[in-house]
Amino acid sequence: MQSTLVMIKPNGVLNGIIGNIISRYERSRLTLSAIKIKRPTEEEVRGFYAEHQEKPFFPKLLKFMTSGPVAFMVLSGENAITSARTINGATSPEDAAPGTIRYDFAPDTTRNVVHSSDSPESAEREIDFWFNDNELISYPAISFKC
Ligand code: CMP
Repeated sequence: MQSTLVMIKPNGVLNGIIGNIISRYERSRLTLSAIKIKRPTEEEVRGFYAEHQEKPFFPKLLKFMTSGPVAFMVLSGENAITSARTINGATSPEDAAPGTIRYDFAPDTTRNVVHSSDSPESAEREIDFWFNDNELISYPAISFKC
């Protein structure tokens, strides 16, 4: 069992596609261990995306990520990190495969609708960044066989 940090960025929340996005993860047998919605501060976004601070796209990313509410979640399941990234699609929507979230919804690379952790080390840091241990819960995988 593995966990990953997923964010639905402000354009996903404001356009009312949280349910559409979460159902894609659930269909891939990922379960929600935690979820919350809040508007991140500039300081939080700078800390979270510290590795990108010097990149030319950072000012646009910072402005976008602080422009509205973000849905933060921890998804858990077999190969959660790779599964979530496959469902998301490539970072840039032009490179994203048909059927992925970014192919379906992202207008450009900055506003690419979702983020998910890219390695177990990032997942640990990113989950810890937004959640306390007592906000996380694990439970059996989805079977859909009711
Ligand atoms: P995300 O998966 O959240 O990780 C870092 C984010 O920076 C990325 O999605 C994009 O939103 C943004 N990003 C990465 N590369 C670029 C780029 N070349 N141009 C604009 N934004 C980018």
